[in-house]
Amino acid sequence: MRTRPLKVALLGCGVVGSEVARIMTTHADDLAARIGAPVELAGVAVRRPTKVREGIDPSLVTTDATALVKRGDIDVVVEVIGGIEPARSLITTAFEHGASVVSANKALLAQDGAALHALAEEQGRDLYYEAAVAGAIPLIRPLRESLAGDKVNRVLGIVNGTTNFILDKMDSTGAGYQEALDEATALGYAEADPTADVEGFDAAAKAAILAGIAFHTRVRLDDVYREGMTEVTAADFASAKEMGCTIKLLAICERAADGGSVTARVHPAMIPLSHPLASVRGAYNAVFVESDASGQLMFYGPGAGGAPTASAVLGDLVAVCRNKLSGATGPGDSAYAQLPVSPMGEVVTRYHISLDVADKPGVLAQVATVFAEHGVSIDTVRQQGKDGEASLVVVTHRASDASLNGTVEALRNLDTVRGVASIMRVEGE
Ligand code: HSE
Repeated sequence: MRTRPLKVALLGCGVVGSEVARIMTTHADDLAARIGAPVELAGVAVRRPTKVREGIDPSLVTTDATALVKRGDIDVVVEVIGGIEPARSLITTAFEHGASVVSANKALLAQDGAALHALAEEQGRDLYYEAAVAGAIPLIRPLRESLAGDKVNRVLGIVNGTTNFILDKMDSTGAGYQEALDEATALGYAEADPTADVEGFDAAAKAAILAGIAFHTRVRLDDVYREGMTEVTAADFASAKEMGCTIKLLAICERAADGGSVTARVHPAMIPLSHPLASVRGAYNAVFVESDASGQLMFYGPGAGGAPTASAVLGDLVAVCRNKLSGATGPGDSAYAQLPVSPMGEVVTRYHISLDVADKPGVLAQVATVFAEHGVSIDTVRQQGKDGEASLVVVTHRASDASLNGTVEALRNLDTVRGVASIMRVEGE
């Protein structure tokens, strides 16, 4: 074993960073044996230098992250500060000063992954980011390496723990969205500003990363269709139950049936209770991958939290250190397929539509005609009437999102349709 240590700079020492530092210390001998050289924490960049950090030598702590990544003797920079800046500049500087990078930064990778990969390649460095998607769950490496000989057709998953906690609470207790969010906040699952999670931004960033790797195609954050889950109601859950379904916020990346394009989207959807994703409870994540040769694979586990995310960071750190010792770099960006990313209108799926209508002769026929005129075939209709008003639940066969939108617009223009109470996609069948 080489005795000269590989030097690691840690950018950020919050929930994840402190766990990375702890595991590097407590598992130092095992890590050295697995890598073939010791790894040494050479510096820790933080915002609040006076905070007491158990197990971290105070002489390693600095507020000057730029100076740390510019030192020139750092082998690997571990970036766990998140956000776009200063993370992007620090990673760029690290590459230019001889270091490879391990990052947990989904927002940055989704937005600037291509440019960062290009710079890493130009400089002969590694850029690894297993922790950016679904915490501890191995997904990036299985997609990039284990399935490199297969053809992935679909990635379907729950990649945000906060929203899964909220939806699970609504499902199991009948609570409304706000009540379930309040509980998630009180328990520390939801942040004080939950926008990134509940509006689907976090999941969309992860979907962009997964789709890019799965389909060897550049998928930008803007390419991902996104709907949050703040409008899901207790009534939607009641409707879902009647259909033998539950509701999950899903990230769905698909290759079109003809193989010529891909789509990526994040939105709430009904899935049958028999689908394995339906039983993913609390803040857990799970991702289904469907490939030509492998068939269906499911990855399940904790998608957030200090130690689980640190597990993924450490796995990358070991891989990058091994590459460094062997004088190689690991697999880089792969976007050779260059498949176009189709807009949401071209996505084909089933829909559950809940309408408030007048309860009088001919209304059902009128509604059915609108569906027919837009080429959307109805699978089931359920009606419940009371005092001249009725609620009508229509479940369609597979149709394009564009056809469904046209249908709903036309329904809204019918005098007999008082309102469209909810529209939800039905997935996983
Ligand atoms: N906020 C995310 C979640 C974890 O709730 O799953 C970090 O991506």
